[in-house]
Amino acid sequence: MSDTVLTIEGLEAGYVRDLPILRNVALTLRRQSLTTIIGPNGAGKSTLIKAIAGLVPVSAGRIMLDGAEITHLRPDRMGELGLAYVPQTDNIFRQLSIRENLALVMRRMPDRASRLQELLGVFPALEPKLGDRAGSLSGGQRQMLAVAMALARRPRVMLMDEPSAGLSPKITAEVLDLARGLTGQGVSILLVEQNVKQALRVSDHCYILAEGRNQLDGPAAQILSDPVVGEIYLGGKRVGAA
Ligand SMILES: Nc1ncnc2c1ncn2[C@@H]1O[C@H](COP(=O)(O)OP(=O)(O)O)[C@@H](O)[C@H]1O
Ligand SMILES: [Mg+2]
Repeated sequence: MSDTVLTIEGLEAGYVRDLPILRNVALTLRRQSLTTIIGPNGAGKSTLIKAIAGLVPVSAGRIMLDGAEITHLRPDRMGELGLAYVPQTDNIFRQLSIRENLALVMRRMPDRASRLQELLGVFPALEPKLGDRAGSLSGGQRQMLAVAMALARRPRVMLMDEPSAGLSPKITAEVLDLARGLTGQGVSILLVEQNVKQALRVSDHCYILAEGRNQLDGPAAQILSDPVVGEIYLGGKRVGAA
């Protein structure tokens, strides 16, 4: 097995024909690493995550999952191949109960009953709320449910788009620690985060994206201590923070 689980080369993608948002983007996700993408608002972070998940058309370049090209696959095929996506918003069915949300993503799994028990072991806060409507959960619990739904099918790679949006620093830390812990269980995670310092403290590697292009990448600790990066992205003069 190669050390790299996901490879992106020369990626060009966008919403409108001939108007690419991403230009020549390259990225590698190392197996069992937590890799974080940062960058100003509108940089194309969500577009990159969606392009990997098969939700935004790719006009050039390629995306490889464990050596197999997945560039133009349908989103439902991605799930079968072990790629899970936690969207930034609308990532749960509010009208359904927690149990129904989880049942929906596990409906084709023969071992769904035992998998539910395993998931409740990882997310004990969800157990007493199984019968409650998902819309009644707190912000942090909703993100936990969204992550549990992504995790249900035992993905190799999990894409998480700003899972801490709208959460307190304490709950953000819980979500980030959870992501970190999952890498120890064999999941490789590509994370988009606006809470840059908090995210980089638990990340292995970091990519900076701006205007749809790669700006810089390196070990998270190095990016965190880089004075120029610090000035621009870590609180000094943070560009377009949202
Ligand atoms: N559904 C869409 N249709 C057209 N343009 C979009 C759509 N979503 C995002 N964009 C544009 O793509 C660019 C990158 O957006 P996005 O990937 O959401 O940035 P980020 O996640 O880094 O804040 C922005 O200029 C944005 O206006
Ligand atoms: Mg975004």
